[in-house]
Amino acid sequence: MAQPLELRACALQSLLDPDPAAKTAGVAALVAAHARGEFTVDRDAELAAPEGIPGRPARPELVPPRLVGRRSMATVEGRAMLIHALAHIEFNAVNLALDALWRFPGMPSDYYTDWLRVAGEEAQHFNMLRAHLATLGYAYGDFTGHDSLWEMVEKTSGDVLARMALVPRTLEARGLDAIPPLRAKLAQAGDQEAAAILDVLLRDEVGHVEIGNRWYLYLCGLRGVEPVATYAELTVRYKAPVPKGPFNLEARRQAGFSEAELARFT
Ligand SMILES: [Fe+2]
Ligand SMILES: [Fe+2]
Repeated sequence: MAQPLELRACALQSLLDPDPAAKTAGVAALVAAHARGEFTVDRDAELAAPEGIPGRPARPELVPPRLVGRRSMATVEGRAMLIHALAHIEFNAVNLALDALWRFPGMPSDYYTDWLRVAGEEAQHFNMLRAHLATLGYAYGDFTGHDSLWEMVEKTSGDVLARMALVPRTLEARGLDAIPPLRAKLAQAGDQEAAAILDVLLRDEVGHVEIGNRWYLYLCGLRGVEPVATYAELTVRYKAPVPKGPFNLEARRQAGFSEAELARFT
């Protein structure tokens, strides 16, 4: 009989895959196989980081954030640039979920299941945006992208507490604030399909930030540190962007931010 598959090792293989279509199909297959009970999870293995993390295609060309172009929503090209920027974030989000899954040993089993769920949803988000981009006459890679999300993933590779604090509950949480105004712009420009995709993204991202918050609080408890003060310390130590408003307080509340933290966001 075949050996059962190990989830963290398989997540690492998907992370290394450079092709977006193959990577997202691979993630969907992992989610389905996990649901069928085909995986074991080795919570103790210290896996070595191979060369080639993250696997990504030659295009889009990565440029500093200020050089990523923006155009008016009144033109198809302008809308395509926005959809491309969102697709690029989702592609990075697939990688960040896979990285959270394979890299950190010693977490409870639910941690790995949670991040597999995130990877699966990010893969769906990417594919929805890529399909919509195609209806506008463009493909993923046609515009430039920036790498700020992945840079924070790399900086926090040595500590799962810093990773949970600064990637899901900082960078993904910015999506909660950013999506509603973008949705309104796209709807106003008459792109109801894009608006409907952003509704799905917002709903799922609340869940991703909730996962980040939950594991952040678990780790703070384990280490006996105070969550709000520790977060402030980590943003300084890792030079993380300080959250800027306007904030989507309702979505942040649903995603598990405490009232004490929400008070700092107003
Ligand atoms: Fe997403
Ligand atoms: Fe997400």
